[in-house]
Amino acid sequence: MVESLKNYKTSGTIVPCSKYAAQFALKNVDLKNAKTIVELGCGTGVFTKVIEKKKNQRTRFIAIEINEELAKEAQKNNPNTKIVQDSAENLSQILKENENEKADIIISTLPWAIFEKELQIKILNEVYSNLEENGEFITISYIITNRLKKGKSFYTLLKSKFNKVKKTRFVVKNLPPSFFYYCKKLPINL
Ligand SMILES: C[S@@+](CC[C@H](N)C(=O)[O-])C[C@H]1O[C@@H](n2cnc3c(N)ncnc32)[C@H](O)[C@@H]1O
Repeated sequence: MVESLKNYKTSGTIVPCSKYAAQFALKNVDLKNAKTIVELGCGTGVFTKVIEKKKNQRTRFIAIEINEELAKEAQKNNPNTKIVQDSAENLSQILKENENEKADIIISTLPWAIFEKELQIKILNEVYSNLEENGEFITISYIITNRLKKGKSFYTLLKSKFNKVKKTRFVVKNLPPSFFYYCKKLPINL
């Protein structure tokens, strides 16, 4: 919490996500059959722990966190997960250095609504180009920030990028209350 407070401008929140929110978001996601899973903005590793527990033993799983202290804490909390301290902007390079595989599932708790539009575009491009066809992108959104200008611009970008975007109900057992977008990368019919 202290680290999140110190870095509010990049974390976008002052407390880690709740375990309840992680379980809710991942309830219907087929983690068992994924070959590669990527988590963006893992913080202290709350979602990481749930993913680690639900995934197949053979699944490759990489969690990315920009903040050095949080990345260290996530690693301590999840000793079996590969935690990379870097920005999600560098996803292509990170995957290149780790078996060079695209992901079947990308899960993000990045604070999109505090990112400038350029950064939103940059990271979303990285997400899209590093997802397999039929791959799934799941991302958190907060009820309050979602209504701000940058929150709205993120949603517009998301819809322009993905053929299918679904929104969940609100999760009040999380601070701040949130919901999730499920986005599918459908094959392009030529
Ligand atoms: C809302 S918090 C979620 C934290 C995590 N889910 C947890 O429960 O601890 C967002 C996280 O994204 C990280 N972050 C912000 N910008 C990032 C970036 N460009 N690349 C990777 N992580 C980033 C922040 O440092 C923060 O830990």
